[in-house]
Amino acid sequence: MCGIIGIVGLEPVAGHLVDALKRLEYRGYDSAGVATLESGSHLARRRAEGKLRNLEARLAKEPLAGLIGIGHTRWATHGAPTEANAHPHATSRVAVVHNGIIENFRELRAELEAKGQVFATETDSEAVPQMVDWYMGQGDAPATAVAKTLKRLTGAFALAFLFPGHDDLIIGARRGSPLAVGWGEGEMFLGSDAIALAPFTDRVAYLEEGDWVEITRASATIHDETDAVVERPIAIVSAAAFQVDRGNYRHFMAKEIHEQPEVIGHTLAHFLDLAGSTVRLPNPTAFDWAKLDRLSIVACGTAYYAGLVAKYWFEQFARLPVEIDVASEFRYREPPLPKNGLALFVSQSGETADTLASLRYCKAEGQHTASVVNVKTSTIARESEAIFPTLAGPEIGVASTKAFTCQLSVLASLAIAAGRARGVLTRDDEIRLVRALGDLPGLIARVLRLEPKIEKLAREIAKATDVLYLGRGSAYPIALEGALKLKEISYIHAEGYAAGELKHGPIALIDEAMPVVVIAPHDKLFEKTVSNMQEVAARGGRIVLVTDERGAAAAGVETLETIVMPDAPDLVAPMIYALPVQMLAYHTAVFMGTDVDQPRNLAKSVTVE
Ligand code: AGP
Repeated sequence: MCGIIGIVGLEPVAGHLVDALKRLEYRGYDSAGVATLESGSHLARRRAEGKLRNLEARLAKEPLAGLIGIGHTRWATHGAPTEANAHPHATSRVAVVHNGIIENFRELRAELEAKGQVFATETDSEAVPQMVDWYMGQGDAPATAVAKTLKRLTGAFALAFLFPGHDDLIIGARRGSPLAVGWGEGEMFLGSDAIALAPFTDRVAYLEEGDWVEITRASATIHDETDAVVERPIAIVSAAAFQVDRGNYRHFMAKEIHEQPEVIGHTLAHFLDLAGSTVRLPNPTAFDWAKLDRLSIVACGTAYYAGLVAKYWFEQFARLPVEIDVASEFRYREPPLPKNGLALFVSQSGETADTLASLRYCKAEGQHTASVVNVKTSTIARESEAIFPTLAGPEIGVASTKAFTCQLSVLASLAIAAGRARGVLTRDDEIRLVRALGDLPGLIARVLRLEPKIEKLAREIAKATDVLYLGRGSAYPIALEGALKLKEISYIHAEGYAAGELKHGPIALIDEAMPVVVIAPHDKLFEKTVSNMQEVAARGGRIVLVTDERGAAAAGVETLETIVMPDAPDLVAPMIYALPVQMLAYHTAVFMGTDVDQPRNLAKSVTVE
């Protein structure tokens, strides 16, 4: 999604704005721009299609010297990703950067055009500066014009405003999309998140829903949605939150894949007492697992697949009925929910629009709510009754990797806690399962050693135009995740299927050209999956089998490649089998030369529907 930065500074800000935008690149974008006030009054803009290097080239040719400015990376929604549609949008009185969607922009545009305002872009965003401009033209001061404009907007957004002639004022507003205020020494900052502000300050306040803020070099005045002045707590953001360096890795995704032993270890240490082999949830919960009638799990994309694995665990370990749906369906399905229900939301960013809307629906329906989030300050985290954080650290690659396995680690811990509370798991079961989780970081480190073999295999996969992934039981969501990873970063068409569904349609696709990746730990369903592999082999399909030693010995089918994983208890198999599919997607994309960390058309944080 779009990224926003604003600086009321003491030295020329253009370079700092671009640096901050680089830290927001992970959100995904297709054009960028900055605006500054030159000589304190005159508005100047530099904008460019494509990556930030194009904007930097423009700034090298036409430098800016202003001490105050705003910047933006745009992920196009309304209007093509052209320079004309790039932000900041400006009139003679105001420049604006915007993240999110102004839903009523058509009505506003018609109204403003009827009043004589002249629009220059195809975007929904431009309605905002045009309306502020109109109010200012009627004699309103900047803050009054913004306050009036905000009341006219519907949709989810974050905004930053810069006013020619006002060289000590930037206004920011937040409704639906996050915005943080940073306190410096004689300087103030606005940013889409703390990562954007990292080089400038570690003193950050997050605006609440509906807030707007006036920042000057000396102060920040925050207003709530009724325009009343309010205080918001200033937090010191930890150094860890700013760790966005690629280190020695070529891509963030590679770094994040390799961080998994460490971050899974951190995450599990938060939920387990390994010495006592027991689950110890960090937050007292307002609900009692034993009294729940149903668990509803809601999420999007990779986070949904983590939830799908968890469904198997909660049903098996806690005999708790689980309903799971993608958030974009759930929110509009408006399902009836039982009185004693818990709704669990899984989200790396904690800002995904559909997941957030589903959370709000469930709260209104009287459900207990809990979230598994990676960003503890996110909206989903703040609006949930209970937060179960993943401690994956900032995930920059658009393709989720370490967040996924950390989500699984948290969800496994919760399922064990539920199983104990509901009397389904014995103390001995708990000891066995917690020990299995305790061994997970070491197992993951072993799986990472398979990378050279997977890299070699990726050369073959890179030649394919279609790839099928199959799995059964909790390996089925890993097949779905493998297909999603491959398609999102290599752009190769891939489908994930429950292996048992093969005969119900996809088998028609099998030929020598399409690799079939089979995720099959040697568990109680292994023999069933072998039958499916035989069906593929009989039709000339090329199989990539991901299994353990027993599985490799027992499979009895010819494969293009067999990836032999360490033996692992059933509970942790989904976490470790996630790694080969991540590495396969990564190396395939590298061979194909795609933009691995920022694949086309994708955004890290999907804050619009
Ligand atoms: C994962 O690789 C994707 N980029 C995407 O599916 C992602 O998991 C989804 O958009 C949900 O995001 P969230 O976890 O931040 O809610």
